Parts: sequence; C-alpha cells; structure tokens
Amino acid sequence: MAHVSLQNVWKRFDDGTVAVDDVSFELPDGEFLVIVGPSGCGKSTTLRMIAGLEMISEGEIRIGERLVNNVHPKDRDVAMVFQNYALYPHMTVRQNLEFALKMRKMTHSEIDQRVSRAARMLELEPLLERKPKALSGGQRQRVAVGRAIVRNPAVFLFDEPLSNLDAKLRTQTRAQLQKLHHELRATSIYVTHDQVEAMTMADRIVVMDRGRVQQIAPPMELYNRPVNRFVAGFIGTPGMNFFEGSMTPGDVTRFVQNGNSGITIPLSHVPPECAGATTLGIRPEHLLATDPSDPLAFRAIVEVVETLGNLTFVYFPAGEDLMAAAIHPDHRLSYGDPIHLRAAADRLHYFRADGTRINPE
Ligand SMILES: Nc1ncnc2c1ncn2[C@@H]1O[C@H](COP(=O)(O)OP(=O)(O)O)[C@@H](O)[C@H]1O
Ligand SMILES: [Mg+2]
Repeated sequence: MAHVSLQNVWKRFDDGTVAVDDVSFELPDGEFLVIVGPSGCGKSTTLRMIAGLEMISEGEIRIGERLVNNVHPKDRDVAMVFQNYALYPHMTVRQNLEFALKMRKMTHSEIDQRVSRAARMLELEPLLERKPKALSGGQRQRVAVGRAIVRNPAVFLFDEPLSNLDAKLRTQTRAQLQKLHHELRATSIYVTHDQVEAMTMADRIVVMDRGRVQQIAPPMELYNRPVNRFVAGFIGTPGMNFFEGSMTPGDVTRFVQNGNSGITIPLSHVPPECAGATTLGIRPEHLLATDPSDPLAFRAIVEVVETLGNLTFVYFPAGEDLMAAAIHPDHRLSYGDPIHLRAAADRLHYFRADGTRINPE
C-alpha cells in the first residue's frame, strides 16, 4: 500500500483541449477516494495519468515517496479496473486470474494462494472453471476486480467499474466492493459520474467540473457544506432548489425570488454576512410542511407528486422553475392542492452572484 499525491497536474491534449486543469490532491495510505463529476470533466484522464497510460503535461504525481511522472505503467505498482471487463474470453475464470501472475513467473503455490484468496473474497469459488461468456455482468466485473487483487498492487484504480451493470447488480456489486475495501484497506481511487456511488463508497470525494477540482471533502461535509453552486447542485437527488432573488429585512427577513411568478420565503436566523446573497439554496428535505398560521410559512401550489412509499416528493412552481419538497407520505396531496411550507433555518445555503458559498455553517 502507498499514499498517492498529485501536485498541480495538467493535461493538455495535442488538439489544445485542457482536460485536467491544475489538479492537486493527496490520499493517505488505505484511503478510498472517489473522483466524481459530469461526463467529460477529466476523471478518466486524471486516473490514466496516475496509471501512467497518459503522459502528464505539467505537475508531479507521486506514489509512495516515488515521483512517477516518467515511470512506465507496469512499474508503478498500480492495478486498474475499467468499465469494460476486458477478460480473456477463451480462458476460464481461474486462468484469467492467474494470467498476470504466470507472466511474472511466480511459483505455482504462490499463484494458487493468491487466486484462492481473491476467489474467496469475491465469492468466485464456484465459478473458477467457467468461461466469461457463462457469467453475468456482475460476475465478470468481480473477475476483473479479482485480476487486480491477485497482483497485490500498492494502489487500486477504478474507472466507472459498475456503469455497465443494471441498477440492482450495481447496488450489489457496490456493496461487495465496499466490503472488499474493509478487508483489504488498500489505497484506492475510484472514478464515477454517479453521485450515489460517490456518497456511499468514499472516505473522501473529489468533485470535478471542466477539468478543475471544485471541492475535496468527506461525503457528509460535501452534502452539508458545498463550497459552490456546482457542488451543491451535483450532490443530492432531487437536487438542491436554487431561488434567485434578494433579501428584504423586516420583522421577519424574507427572501424574494426574482420575476413575476417568484415566491417569497420568510427566513429566521439569517447570518448577517448572508444579507447580500443572490441565491438561496434549500434541499428538498429542508422544506418542511407546516400550517398557515406559522409565521415562517409560505404557500405553494402542488404541480407534481412523486410517491416513493417511505417519502413523497412534491414539486411546486416558483419563478421559472419547479422546486421539490420532501414530505411525509401521510400528507395526501395531488395536483393543484395548496401546501404550506417553511424553510429549515439552520440548513440553508447562501450563495453570491459568482456561485460561491457565503455561510460558513
Ligand atoms: N485523446 C484525447 N484528445 C483530445 N481530447 C481528449 C482526449 N481524451 C479525452 N479528451 C477530452 O478531455 C476531456 C476529459 O475527458 P475524460 O477524462 O475522458 O472525461 P471523463 O472521464 O470525466 O468523462 C473531454 O473533453 C474529452 O473530450
Ligand atoms: Mg471517463
């Protein structure tokens, strides 16, 4: 195992595309770090530079104490798992697992030991004599992970390994990877565009957008204290509601949304430094159902109701947008019903016009 560090790393492709723009982060030994961001934001390029599959244009990458900028991929002691399983179709699972070890001229007993251990960890024992075509997608991906494990690398790199699986298998395989990490405690960098994977698996998350790091933090800190609107909107489903407008002071401070159809949200405990906010961010679960006599109530008209069983999302028009509120399923609501909501005072997010967060809490 080893720690990994990237220092001011850039990738400019020959056609001028800046795929990775001054990225720095560091992960200690044994950490599971997830890089998340929309398609094209530079996640794979970052990972491929760590693996040595892509030259870096500028900056320094270290694995352990060693500067690896010019070290050949096979000498970096990393193992990468891709979205496409890339198994050898004519070989059995066992042969697929053994292949890299045989190439390294390891002894039979060492190979057997490593393959058995990986097969046990990944529950592949009953499948060892099968060929890949006789496996489900989830099983194939476990074999691909197994091939990384038997190599016993200092660092595991995963590039969207679950993206080809259907929803149920994705959840199962995700849980298996989490369990595996608890056993191995291997330094791992995991790339995904799926914020749920990021939230559920990561020790810490790196959020990227357009080649740049937006925020690096543990999952709940990202969720509770996003540094800007991009991060605030990217993490969470349904996403955070953003109200554009301005604050009007009074007995009760109100946030008045811009536009003719804008709504007014009474607020309490607005931190003084947030008085100039131009965007108010409220997550759906922080809009609480209340009654009209509540001094902080505002009225909205229900437009869409999503009943999930354990939770109901209601959507209501505000300005140009539909906003979401998560309410208890006992509230029976349908299209056109009025609803009274209040904003949870201590859970609000205030942003400046440039999108950066104002409130420290
Ligand atoms: N070989 C290449 N030449 C030019 N541009 C590339 C190349 N590979 C990737 N890109 C561009 O770099 C950006 C980042 O790509 P990538 O790292 O694959 O994103 P992600 O994995 O986050 O979807 C994208 O705009 C992509 O089109
Ligand atoms: Mg990618």
